[in-house]
Amino acid sequence: MYLIKVNSYQEMSDKAADILFDVITSKERPVIGLATGSTPEGTYKALSDKLNSSTVDQSKITTFNLDEYVGLDRNHNQSYAYYMNENFFNHVSIPEENINLLNGKAADEEEEVKSYEEKIDEQGLDIQLLGIGRNGHIAFNEPGTSFDSLTHAVELTEETIEDNSRFFDDKESVPSRALSMGLKSIMKAKKILILINGENKKEALSELLNGVVTEENPASILNNHPDVTIIADSAAIGE
Ligand code: GLP
Repeated sequence: MYLIKVNSYQEMSDKAADILFDVITSKERPVIGLATGSTPEGTYKALSDKLNSSTVDQSKITTFNLDEYVGLDRNHNQSYAYYMNENFFNHVSIPEENINLLNGKAADEEEEVKSYEEKIDEQGLDIQLLGIGRNGHIAFNEPGTSFDSLTHAVELTEETIEDNSRFFDDKESVPSRALSMGLKSIMKAKKILILINGENKKEALSELLNGVVTEENPASILNNHPDVTIIADSAAIGE
């Protein structure tokens, strides 16, 4: 794993956007995996500015998102579909048919996760962007998730519900389930870029870097991937 140290949120966002942009411009039909959360917001701003001031043909870009809450309509202001529109898709010209999002209101969940994984396999992810939860979760793969997991339905932990409740009116409004790409789905990406900032992610970062690979720490699987870049700020590094 390659660690890039940065001093600010802006620097992290700009570096991440540069890496994503480089992958986009190096492929005829780039396929990029995207993440939500507060961490990548700045990256989406920087990336959309870069794309819009370039000659990149955005109609060639395909995206896959990591996860979605179960039960939230895509117009709900806390759905990840809504987040992606607000932070990225509304600001770029990637065609709607190239945007892949899990449907948290799918009538047939089994079919939804199965067909999503099939689409990932057909298209192949050139890069997957990730954030990390305080407990080491990536996407919505909580501690204990099998390293062999494909896209699946998950029960969220109390810690994650608590952490994500800051975006909802109250804790009770946070959905308790989600659909998420699995750890194996994420590992299929040719390249992985993970962003870790803030003091509250210090432990998650050190657990990732200590080299112990265990299902108790979902992010630790990244130690087994040949091309991972971590961008971390000084607060998360503890300097
Ligand atoms: C959610 C998302 C993750 C994200 C995590 C951290 O649980 N499913 O993909 O990495 O939150 O979010 P934040 O960046 O807001 O700390």
